[in-house]
Amino acid sequence: MKVLGISGSMRNQGNTAMLIKRILAHIQAEGCSEIDTEFVTLAGKDIKPCIGCELCRDKKWCVRGGDWDEIAEKVMDCDVLIIGAPTYFYDVNGQTKNFIDRTYSLYHDRKLGGKNAVVVAVCADRGCERTLETLEGFVNTHNFSSLGYISGRGFGEGEVLKDEHAVKKAIDIAEKILKLLSNTHREGKR
Ligand SMILES: Cc1cc2nc3c(=O)[nH]c(=O)nc-3n(C[C@H](O)[C@H](O)[C@H](O)COP(=O)(O)O)c2cc1C
Repeated sequence: MKVLGISGSMRNQGNTAMLIKRILAHIQAEGCSEIDTEFVTLAGKDIKPCIGCELCRDKKWCVRGGDWDEIAEKVMDCDVLIIGAPTYFYDVNGQTKNFIDRTYSLYHDRKLGGKNAVVVAVCADRGCERTLETLEGFVNTHNFSSLGYISGRGFGEGEVLKDEHAVKKAIDIAEKILKLLSNTHREGKR
């Protein structure tokens, strides 16, 4: 069973990455050996925007190439996706939006339907709500099952770890994921 965390921030060690890694660390520390966790950052990745060519309707995959392919394969393979983004002008940053838009190619056959998802938004002060709405729009459109959300406050890299409410929520969400996966594991053994 695989839990995949994707930070859409262009900061490798930024606040979005920190919150997602907090969830993954708890799962790794408390989970059984059947649960794998992986963290992927979109920082420095070549994620070109969707150009609306609609070729994916036939190909069932995005033809734009770059690093999107490998990351999309990981999303297809995971059981739980944690996707997070920093807030830029009251919404997700561009890199995250580029990544999301290209999953249109997976939408035609509902390839992500039935997986579980958590959304994570970070902002310095205001605008987390719309960031969460955009991420939830992605999750709902693909028919993921939502396991909840986290919204954290922080400006400089790492500051979000001082947001006690967000860190507590990260642990609560990690516990929820562990419970879900241990139930799935038990049912699989029956
Ligand atoms: C271009 C840009 C736009 C931003 N817009 C907002 C905003 O609308 N609201 C806000 O509270 N913070 C805004 N911020 C601050 C970031 O959301 C904040 O620094 C966040 O912690 C970055 O997350 P990261 O470290 O994961 O990249 C902006 C930062 C940048 C660089």
